[in-house]
Amino acid sequence: MPSYPFPWQRTAAGANLLSSTGDLSVTIFEEITALATKHSAINLGQGFPDTDGPHLFKEQAAEGVAGSLNQYAPGGGILVLREAIAKHQQRFYGLSVNPETEVVVTTGATEAIAASILAFIQPGDEVITFEPFYDSYGATIGLAGGIHRTVPLNAPDFQPDIADLRAAFSTRTKMIVLNNPHNPTGAVFERAVLEEIVYLATKHDCLILSDEVYEHLTFGVPHIPIATIPGAWERTLTLSSVGKTFSFTGWKVGWAMGPAPLIAAVRTVKQFLSYSSGTAFQPAVAAALDSPTEFFDAFARDLGHRSTVLAAGLESAGMTVYRPRGTYFVVADVAPLGFTDALDLARRMPKSIGVAGIPLSVFCHAEGAQRTKTLMRFAFCKKLEVLTEAAERLSHLSTKIGS
Ligand SMILES: Cc1ncc(COP(=O)(O)O)c(C=O)c1O
Repeated sequence: MPSYPFPWQRTAAGANLLSSTGDLSVTIFEEITALATKHSAINLGQGFPDTDGPHLFKEQAAEGVAGSLNQYAPGGGILVLREAIAKHQQRFYGLSVNPETEVVVTTGATEAIAASILAFIQPGDEVITFEPFYDSYGATIGLAGGIHRTVPLNAPDFQPDIADLRAAFSTRTKMIVLNNPHNPTGAVFERAVLEEIVYLATKHDCLILSDEVYEHLTFGVPHIPIATIPGAWERTLTLSSVGKTFSFTGWKVGWAMGPAPLIAAVRTVKQFLSYSSGTAFQPAVAAALDSPTEFFDAFARDLGHRSTVLAAGLESAGMTVYRPRGTYFVVADVAPLGFTDALDLARRMPKSIGVAGIPLSVFCHAEGAQRTKTLMRFAFCKKLEVLTEAAERLSHLSTKIGS
């Protein structure tokens, strides 16, 4: 048995993610999901939809398997998909991307994150993320031996303070990781924030890694890819995937795009992580990306509606709710109900009221965990009837679990 810490737990965040059950292989996500399953609770902890994406694309993937798309795809992805990704960037954002040299297909955005960080981060390099942050950033920075610096995002709007952002940069900063729209807070960053990031990244000559997996899931506000801000493209890797936009999180097809030399480095690392990604899914993802604009708009509208249903339920349960501008998630503060520790509450909720959520502290280093101690994240990418039932159950929170 290797001794603790494992390399991916070198950072405080990696350690913080661990369950306290003593089993080093179990994260809080797994612990809460296991509790939700055990108590047949509605699991609003994990961010996956309970309805699959369009049947047409499922059929296309099935045809690929039934046909001849069962051997390795080219390492960089099939050309049809790379072309569809480039076309999508042009259609939605006016970005001109060369599908031959400026796109690489990955095994979900997760692999794109890992390959990008491992490609550019040497031991001792500093990497900035916002905090709370998506767990795989902290883990992969740890794997690369990087030093993880964070910039806090605070309620109610979870936009960074520009002075904090400036203070996070140093001569050792190699990369800033941006996640916009932002999991877990549901924030969509203001243009001024993006411009400041580009200014600082240019000043300190560092890379921008922009995780935009929720790019189409914004509610009444536009998504601005940071690569469209003047001066950004040459130092930016943009990531996305099929999972969130099309409700196919299990397909694990993602991509990175950016200037050719950066993509070449990512592709090289990807070669040794997975070599290539799900062949049969790739033409289906290409077709999905070619969907009419109304498909993207209608999906965001529908998801936005679900966010308001869950937010209203959380509010009527007595929580302070920070309404999201994007993503699958809404953050609520349980302090008004008298609870002082969302992690403890998250462990008790599946059994007591039959609903599971995730404490925000697991997306933070130790100090951030204190700051977010009473905040909880709930996923609303679920059927309306499930959300309505969850809201009903949540209304009994304070009576069933005394604070
Ligand atoms: C911010 C963020 N990035 C990346 C991912 C992973 O994407 P994929 O499933 O395409 O690997 C997720 C999934 O929850 C996410 O929330």
